[in-house]
Amino acid sequence: MLDNLGNLERTHSCGALRKEDVGKSVTLMGWVARRRDFGVLTFFDLRDREGITQVVFNGEDTGEAHAKAKDVRGEFVIAVTGRVVLRDDSSRNPKLSTGDVEVRASELYILNDARTLPFQLETAGSEGLASEDLRLKYRYLDLRRPQLQANLRLRHRVVTEIRRFMDAKGFTEIETPILIKSTPEGARDYIVPSRIQPGKFFALPQSPQLFKQICMIAGLDKYFQIARCFRDEDLRADRQPEFSQLDVELSFANTEQIYRLIEELFVNVFRLIGVEIKTPFPRHSYAEVMQRWGSDKPDLRIEGMELQDLSGPLQGTGFAPYEAVLSAGGDIRGVVVSGGAGTSRKVLDDLQEFAKRYGAGALAWIKLGDELSSSLLKALGEDTVKQLATTAKAQKGDAILIVAGKAKVVTASLGALRNEIARRENLVPEGAFAPLWVTEFPMFEHHEEDGRYYSMHHPFTSPIDEDLPLLVQAVEEGQEHLFGRIRARAYDAVINGVEVAGGSIRIHRRDIQNVVFKALGMSEENARERFGFFLDALAFGTPPHGGIASGIERLMMVLVPTDNIRDVMAFPKTASAADLMIDAPGEVDQRQLGELHLRVV
Ligand code: AMO
Repeated sequence: MLDNLGNLERTHSCGALRKEDVGKSVTLMGWVARRRDFGVLTFFDLRDREGITQVVFNGEDTGEAHAKAKDVRGEFVIAVTGRVVLRDDSSRNPKLSTGDVEVRASELYILNDARTLPFQLETAGSEGLASEDLRLKYRYLDLRRPQLQANLRLRHRVVTEIRRFMDAKGFTEIETPILIKSTPEGARDYIVPSRIQPGKFFALPQSPQLFKQICMIAGLDKYFQIARCFRDEDLRADRQPEFSQLDVELSFANTEQIYRLIEELFVNVFRLIGVEIKTPFPRHSYAEVMQRWGSDKPDLRIEGMELQDLSGPLQGTGFAPYEAVLSAGGDIRGVVVSGGAGTSRKVLDDLQEFAKRYGAGALAWIKLGDELSSSLLKALGEDTVKQLATTAKAQKGDAILIVAGKAKVVTASLGALRNEIARRENLVPEGAFAPLWVTEFPMFEHHEEDGRYYSMHHPFTSPIDEDLPLLVQAVEEGQEHLFGRIRARAYDAVINGVEVAGGSIRIHRRDIQNVVFKALGMSEENARERFGFFLDALAFGTPPHGGIASGIERLMMVLVPTDNIRDVMAFPKTASAADLMIDAPGEVDQRQLGELHLRVV
């Protein structure tokens, strides 16, 4: 038999009671996290979002409630009225904020029962958790874990602080539509069929990019939005098909203003977790970060381990694999693992497998132990191997890991190895935050699959002023190979190896926008069809403008911290873009398909 809540009201949360409350008569409500029976005494851990309070039913003073307590199982929802008493010294629990006291219950109301849970709620932490798929199916149960609740509440505070800050800086929050036409950000669109206009489709925004630029053309001057974005792309641990951005755009702005704005915002946001981050953030060009750290989002908490160019001593060694790489214009580079001379063959094999995931063919190594050893000794001889160690600036006791191949592959695999080794060797200092700006991204990137150039950021990003003539020349003369040299006024904010924001100064002139579309292989006709509305708008007095967007989930991943983006969202999707709780995506019946003028093939 369940009890009614009636007029009963909570006097305290389950995280509130302290020594000072001893003697008070209280009413608590929550879920039974744990129950222990000792004959005449029954204990409950009563949990709500604020914490856990121990409740005790003593058969000697509350016969009825004590008897009723026997029916209560885990995750039942109950209300308890009783008196706060001090626990004796031996039974205090310093791990609980309420651990000095307990509530001696006089009345028990069973408000609802609960089935046996499909998995154990592991309230203590994330070790020993049930499989993620099972937890996602029963997301509402997993969300009862205090860690996830804390993450969501921090997220709320972060977003609230963002709104406060942006308002104080004179920005207006403006909502832009969800049913739109494609705005490219490098992913596929989610498409929504129109019922009223047969054969026509909306796209969900990959970002509000064009709308925010149009807000500048409209004279709104300073825009922001906590915007939902949708991208149909291959998912990774830090990507979701739908996610939120703090989206920002401002008129008459240069990069300095945008850097200052975001730095100040991040300072305020990090204060929410009690951390003072230093400004201004260091700045490094894209070319520099790729060369030094092998990544466009380097983790600067990791000291050193910069990529070293080893091609010098390897010229003309006659060692065929390296000769081939060098004559094809490839790279041979390495990273020094400080104190790594003792690394076992098994670990080296492991690291090689890891590097192969990034396209590396093999991982060569040198160990500067008491004796020199190296996978290259036979092929290159001791002198060359020693020279490599000197070039890499390695010390006795170190190891050097070497990758040869196409520049892109060498950079990516060594950059990833740097992170992986730091993680394995605990070289990433806990509680540290290392922000930076990565600047001067290339305008275009070459895709090998179809041999074409694509925007590295998006097609509305301005080239840097000095490189504009080169762009115009490259387009006019059809010299595509020059595209790779053109730099954009684009920047990313990176913290602890996570890209937390990205933006650019935009093209505000129609002629330049046309050149960029042309560079991307878009005919005038095609550009008009896709972006005619925007090209028109550009013609009516567009102020110079620029902006940025910061991924709320990415920022949260750094603040929490966690490697799993699903830990910072209430209802995330799986790696195959499914919602296991509601079982979406799902099928649609024939009638509905018919209304939408669709047939599944
Ligand atoms: P960009 O595509 O770089 O730029 O996105 C901005 C920021 O959004 C976050 N982000 C994501 N977070 C979770 N899941 C995803 N799939 C995902 N994709 C991106 C990242 C990223 O830095 N319109 C431009 C911004 C601008 O130019 O102003 C844009 O969307 O933190």
